[in-house]
Amino acid sequence: MIDRRDSNWWKQAVFYQVYPRSFKDSNADGIGDLKGIQEKLDYFQELGVDALWISPFFKSPMKDFGYDISDYKDVDPIFGSLEDFQSLLTAAHERGLRIVVDLVVNHSSDEHPWFKAARSSRTDPRHDWYLWKPRTGRRPPNNWISLFEQRSAWYPNEATGEWYLATFTRNQPEFNWRNPELREAIYDATRFWLDLGADGFRMDVATAYFKDAEFRSNPFSFNLVPNLLQHHIYDRNRPEIFGVFKDFRAIADSYGDRMLIGETHGLDPVLAASCHGNNCDGLHMAFNFDFLYRKWSARLFRESAERWYELLPSSAWPNFTLSNHDQPRHYYRYRSGRHADARARVAATMLLCLRGTPFLYYGEEIGMNCEPLPKASLRDPLGVATWPLRIGRDPERTPMQWDDSLNAGFSPASPWLPVNADYRHKNVATQKTDPDSLWNWYADLLRLRKSQPALITGTLTWLDVPPEVMAWKRTERRQSEGKQDLLVYLNFSGKLKTISVPVGTVLQGTRVAAGERINAGERTLGPYEVLVVSQG
Ligand code: GLC
Ligand code: CA
Repeated sequence: MIDRRDSNWWKQAVFYQVYPRSFKDSNADGIGDLKGIQEKLDYFQELGVDALWISPFFKSPMKDFGYDISDYKDVDPIFGSLEDFQSLLTAAHERGLRIVVDLVVNHSSDEHPWFKAARSSRTDPRHDWYLWKPRTGRRPPNNWISLFEQRSAWYPNEATGEWYLATFTRNQPEFNWRNPELREAIYDATRFWLDLGADGFRMDVATAYFKDAEFRSNPFSFNLVPNLLQHHIYDRNRPEIFGVFKDFRAIADSYGDRMLIGETHGLDPVLAASCHGNNCDGLHMAFNFDFLYRKWSARLFRESAERWYELLPSSAWPNFTLSNHDQPRHYYRYRSGRHADARARVAATMLLCLRGTPFLYYGEEIGMNCEPLPKASLRDPLGVATWPLRIGRDPERTPMQWDDSLNAGFSPASPWLPVNADYRHKNVATQKTDPDSLWNWYADLLRLRKSQPALITGTLTWLDVPPEVMAWKRTERRQSEGKQDLLVYLNFSGKLKTISVPVGTVLQGTRVAAGERINAGERTLGPYEVLVVSQG
């Protein structure tokens, strides 16, 4: 059972992101659903994760696969019903598993009744809930761009003779967060899910809600992907957002134990760091996406983590992630011929042993791949609009590979996206029975975190090691148990590396079995070797 008095659970938890369309189909229509997730509740416990973030399952015309919501208080029939959500939540909570849902309130769907009313007339009470500019000629009001359509973000609305703003697809008109009634309507929807018992929200493009009051054009930038040659200083990332974060925080805090994690659009973690507020009055966490853009390098990952720790206000708690539904999976990014699995173990150990809350993406525990898909299989509007550039997001959203049966055990029907061709040997069932599999590596690490408080709350000190090795020490001081030091060594290279170690016991390793004693002194790390040692 979850403990509602525990307001800090999210600092100890390992999160697992479920992309509901692709996790498990319970009714043979080729699309994953809430009942499918509920069928797999044992799975999360076997693996050892503590909380789920489920991508949107709300009512939606699915133009952006749920990130375009037409009713903030209902479940889309494709995914089930509100009762299904309640039943999933109750069953999850009974097992001590928390569930965070996606809050997509930078924009609604163009089929939301609010937008339908708003676009009908300039005098409609909802008109001011969205962003408009008078349409005098053919030229849009400024240079803001629609990310997923690769064109102007302003779309004509005949009934009012205006443009409306949509910086994702045209079907995602953006809210006017300066309107107090709109804000109240959103806060009301927020409370709806918290009242049902949801443990918090992942807030979609949380730093985009406010646009420049004067609608100024963005300045030029040399960055093509993902910035599309603009510095996005006027169409998002405005300072007014911090007041709204405080409102959300107050709502969450009024329930005692709920958590908010924001998605920020901006490559520099400075922006994410700023969302926490200085006195725990902003978001509980904001995603640090820096690892998603780092090359395979011990030095670059260490620099990235160090910088993140430095940037965060002292009251803030860090988080790390390597993959999500918008970026190529890290198994694929870092694959290097036959070393793909070895690298995946290094990456998993880094993610789960650094100081901060880890977010896993479904399928990373079996090393799911992410090969480009043929044009005919593409569903993501970004992928369709940018073909053949291959920056679409379908490859990272393919069905979960459960076993070697038809469609990888995801669904008896033909799935909405093709199953990866490697599913016959790469799947949960096969890997669970193999003690040396990546799945078992993750499960072991997750068990290790639970048994070693140093891995969760311990301080972190970097260790001096040769290039291409990343190493750190986690230290926990407990009155009853004294001091506990835990050392993590990761060889990012295929070469032998010499490190010096203290006397200790191996807790987890790729070449040395857990429980083995090691002596103080110099030691050789093999290619991609991982070694986690308890000192003493
Ligand atoms: C976020 C989501 C992405 C979605 C976009 C628009 O970036 O993660 O999947 O398409 O917002 O809502
Ligand atoms: Ca289904």
